[in-house]
Amino acid sequence: MTANTIDHNRARYNFEGIESVWLFGYGSLIYKVDFPFLEQRPATIRGWARRFWQGSHDHRGTPEAPGRVVTLIEQPGARCKGMAYRVSPNVFEYLDVREKNGYLRFSTTMTFDDGSHAEGLVYIATEDNEAFLGEAPEADIAAQIAAAAGPSGPNSEYLLRLAESLRALGDDCVHTFAIETHLLGSEPVAVKDR
Ligand code: SIN
Repeated sequence: MTANTIDHNRARYNFEGIESVWLFGYGSLIYKVDFPFLEQRPATIRGWARRFWQGSHDHRGTPEAPGRVVTLIEQPGARCKGMAYRVSPNVFEYLDVREKNGYLRFSTTMTFDDGSHAEGLVYIATEDNEAFLGEAPEADIAAQIAAAAGPSGPNSEYLLRLAESLRALGDDCVHTFAIETHLLGSEPVAVKDR
């Protein structure tokens, strides 16, 4: 599949007659909320693990030196904490462009902190997309992130802001925090807006 998923996503769901849709964010959608929403609630999804396995050629890297951003990998028993937003369906016109580098929308069951459930849409970059980089040692991922930057800013900013947001949500994402530790141990990083 080509890395550009805009057309795939537009053909995926018919939002006709639907007033609002839940969106589940587990990466930059947690801390970079540049879209309107009607309601926001912390939520968890099961069976998926957050991993810095997706390449970023358009936001946090370049085609020559891609950065690494998160996607979700199916893993029985895993839990991924994030932020759910109830949005008007037209918000996906913008989000499909923002998430166009390999991410497809899937439907998932979310569990809110009070134990209630709802169906939501989540952007996942599966391993058959051209920008998928896959597994690597966390120290190597940190080194790649430390060296990458793109139109949206340094890749390190993406990692550090995500780690900070996960801490604020009370999440214990071992993978993200291990990469953060490697990155901070290797060199001091200045992060905008921290
Ligand atoms: C998400 O945040 O839910 C998708 C991945 C990203 O944009 O970082």
